[in-house]
Amino acid sequence: MSFAAPQSALDVVILAAGQGTRMNSALPKVLHSIAGRPMLAHVLDAAKIFDNACIHIVIGCQAEQVRTAFPQANVNWIVQEQQLGTGHAVKQALPFLRPQANTLILYGDVPLLSAATLQQLPWLVSPESIVLLTAILEHPHGYGRIVRDADGEVISIIEQKDASLTQLAINEVNTGILAATTEQLTRWLPALDNCNAQREFYLTDIVMMAHSESIIINTHSTQDETEALGVNDRTQQARLERIYQQRQANALMANGVTLADPARFDCRGTVTAGHDVFIDINVLFEGEVLLGNSVTIEPNCLIKNAKIGNNTRIKANTVIDGAIIGDAVEVGPFARLRPGTVLKTGTRIGNFVETKNSVLGANSKAGHLAYIGDAEIGEHCNIGAGTITCNYDGVNKHKTLLGDGVFIGSNSTLVAPLHVESGGFVAAGSTVTKAVPADNLAVARGLQRNIAGWQRPKKKRTEDKTSPD
Ligand code: UD1
Ligand code: CA
Repeated sequence: MSFAAPQSALDVVILAAGQGTRMNSALPKVLHSIAGRPMLAHVLDAAKIFDNACIHIVIGCQAEQVRTAFPQANVNWIVQEQQLGTGHAVKQALPFLRPQANTLILYGDVPLLSAATLQQLPWLVSPESIVLLTAILEHPHGYGRIVRDADGEVISIIEQKDASLTQLAINEVNTGILAATTEQLTRWLPALDNCNAQREFYLTDIVMMAHSESIIINTHSTQDETEALGVNDRTQQARLERIYQQRQANALMANGVTLADPARFDCRGTVTAGHDVFIDINVLFEGEVLLGNSVTIEPNCLIKNAKIGNNTRIKANTVIDGAIIGDAVEVGPFARLRPGTVLKTGTRIGNFVETKNSVLGANSKAGHLAYIGDAEIGEHCNIGAGTITCNYDGVNKHKTLLGDGVFIGSNSTLVAPLHVESGGFVAAGSTVTKAVPADNLAVARGLQRNIAGWQRPKKKRTEDKTSPD
């Protein structure tokens, strides 16, 4: 192995022009997701570990759709008009590469590479050597195989469709990732031909050329074999998704989180957790989620962009999006917290309660069946079952303000804008439209009449029936 230090600058070329026929999809393959983000986003993240590298992305099939999915990316987009193979794709990038630089080639459909693995590659490139990232796979089907001579030196890469039976038995595979000097690529790529089973210009054929020039062909292995896996169809996509999720689950467990079943944990974003957090089965996290110490999440919850304080319990089947939840809070089961919800210490939100853009002060409760929207609720308030804040008049949203210690009786409608001052008490079944002064009782419902001697209706006999059929 040659370990010459990389003196040269680095250009990274990501291949993302292929159609992805085997996905059977209207969406370009590289936009299919792993953990809620396009595969290409994962590859781009991997490329960004190299400071000062120029990143080029070769696009072709539905090029505009791919490009517009990355409006912020600081990359050079190169269009490969016809997808004539991986070698042809890299050739399109040649005019944009710095002649004195090294070039690292990544594939848009190989998204699980680790920074630790990639970092090694440029160190194995020199005018006398190139490097291939390889992996040993138990099931190498579909991958290019690394062909070595009797001395163990690499002599070529043979594609699955071109391989002999003996070659198919090789389980050392090409990940597709390689690095060479740009000068070498400029020499070899124009000389590729497409005399192979797929009539494509294979990038992998440069290995043969390197060998014939006595260039050293270094190989570097992935840290674990799952890094090498590519996505050509939806079964492989699902497999990579599970591998990715397992990695995240392992990282959380290593930090002191208990997962009832790591195989039923999903995170499409980031979860940062304190110690002694317990996460039951089928919980999905999205966006950025922060969990304090000793948080418990019961089964079947969706938690998105939320901060959850210490000792808080999220009960089963709760949906949370854009909420800040304090310490020692209980939410659910079957609650829905929408964006702008703030639950202070010791609050309780029970089943079938929906909150939106509302603050619930410390130790306040809404135990059952309520809608709380655009409300500011003080401390120690009790919101009865069936309470609705009527925050929308069909055009504008209005606020409901409740002071401390307010009690709202069941089945009340609070017509906003409304202020119930501290200690205010709203009788059950009221429709409250006017401010309630401190410590007053508001009753706003029809008065009960009891009618003595009332006769229940009796069922009519058939011959008396007067209504037409
Ligand atoms: C390729 C490698 C194979 C390797 C495997 C690893 C070649 C010839 N074969 O096979 O040795 O084991 O990846 O996953 O390189 N692309 C373009 N333009 C094209 C063709 C492809 O940009 O004209 C892009 C695709 O979008 C994809 C990548 O190159 O991101 C790989 O292409 P794909 O057709 O999937 O190659 P494989 O058959 O998987
Ligand atoms: Ca592939």
